[in-house]
Amino acid sequence: MEGQVLREARLYEEKKEKHITEDMRPAFHLTPRTGWMNDPNGFSVYGGKYHMFYQYHPYDSHWGPMHWGHAVSDDMLNWEYLPAALAPDQKSDHAGCFSGSAIELPDGRQLLMYTGCSRVTDENDDIKMIQEQCIAVGDGENYVKYHSNPVLDAKDIPEGGSIYDFRDPKIITLSDGTYLCLIGNRPADGSGQILLYKSEDAFHWTYWKKLIENKNRYGKMWECPDFFELDGKWVLLTSPQDMLPMDLEFHNGNGTIVVIGEFDETTGEFKEESISAIDYGIDFYAPQTILDKDGNRVMIGWMQNWDSVAARDEGEPWMGQMSLPRTLSLKDGRLIQKPINAFDERRKNKITYENVRLKDDLTLDGIEGRCIDMEITVRSTGDLYEKFALWFAEKDAMHTSLRYRPADHTLKVDRKFSGSRRAILHQRRCRVDSAGDELKLRIILDRFSAEIFVNDGEKVMSLTLYTDIEATGISFHSVGEVEFDITKYDII
Ligand code: FRU
Repeated sequence: MEGQVLREARLYEEKKEKHITEDMRPAFHLTPRTGWMNDPNGFSVYGGKYHMFYQYHPYDSHWGPMHWGHAVSDDMLNWEYLPAALAPDQKSDHAGCFSGSAIELPDGRQLLMYTGCSRVTDENDDIKMIQEQCIAVGDGENYVKYHSNPVLDAKDIPEGGSIYDFRDPKIITLSDGTYLCLIGNRPADGSGQILLYKSEDAFHWTYWKKLIENKNRYGKMWECPDFFELDGKWVLLTSPQDMLPMDLEFHNGNGTIVVIGEFDETTGEFKEESISAIDYGIDFYAPQTILDKDGNRVMIGWMQNWDSVAARDEGEPWMGQMSLPRTLSLKDGRLIQKPINAFDERRKNKITYENVRLKDDLTLDGIEGRCIDMEITVRSTGDLYEKFALWFAEKDAMHTSLRYRPADHTLKVDRKFSGSRRAILHQRRCRVDSAGDELKLRIILDRFSAEIFVNDGEKVMSLTLYTDIEATGISFHSVGEVEFDITKYDII
């Protein structure tokens, strides 16, 4: 039922959205209907449509009391807004409806499970947020909060686990038709762990065991878990807060990790085999996945970095966007990401150049734009070159750059000259170990972002940029001689 808080949010977003014209948003990335967006929530297929809910504060372009925004799509590229789905209006969620997931019940209704936050004053008179798991059930547009919320609270947390960091329930269905829920939690060692809960009906839950403990290896609290089978393995995605850097694999701040291993559904035993980063760019967090209508595992993340959220000027009508949907697979123990196939159908106006020789600086006729998809293969012509660089979103003193140094196999993105006026993170580097003599790049630009797929999706670097939209230039630069092929499409 639509309570007062939700009614107000729905009226507000409907009114306010009219002030945001199409050209003020990305062309094919989802942004909040109005105001602020963070994590993807309840990413699911329901009623023949793709549903994306999101952490949402409609009233401001900053984080605030969390609602769930809602959008639906036939192809995960064109999204249509639906009215906000949840608002903080109950005893157990009055301070916010935090992240969670969605499943379809056997009776055809859609169940949302989310973290309800409520404010309390602790023994030191500090104001804290208790986190509990809540449920709402609906028809794909309107949701009724469950009368017995919360369904999981302090008494369901194993000893030592924090009641203030107990969030982001992700429900999956096991092969016997029962439900498993993964929840991020902070144990007594101050880092993170993922707890498993079981249920026969998705309403009544009991604690089962710990799926995995961080033990202070990768950051602190682990947020937003997802867990699924892929190519014969089980894959855990989670987003650790407060990471320390490790070579060029992990960076300071909030990050993303993928744990690949073996999972036994009967015993709940998870054997870790490898751990790496999910995205190596600046802006990517809290991804969720679905099985799409063709059975592919598809992932979308929040294309933003908590430490860079001040990147947008005050008064901007929206803040936060989702990444492109990416199809996942495993190869040689690594997560491979590719834009979904449907994206390729939007590529138009193909322009190709082959065996382009570059020494110093170059531009190519027709190679420009801010809503484009470009594939570039770079190689040396004999002697190993020192540096290959691509500048995009370029105009006068503004550009964002991507540069590769083959001697140390490092690829760096740099948005220092993107027009940013904030002292935020502007650069990131990653290692491309597999690049022999050839480096393959696929670069997708959409007005306010760049997603760079390296060597057929072996690594991805995602970042936002808010450069003046008139900055459409692209140029090539090298130290030493380089040869490259390029194909560029406009995205229509
Ligand atoms: C991750 C996160 C989640 C939480 C939500 C609150 O970005 O901190 O753990 O549920 O954002 O908006």
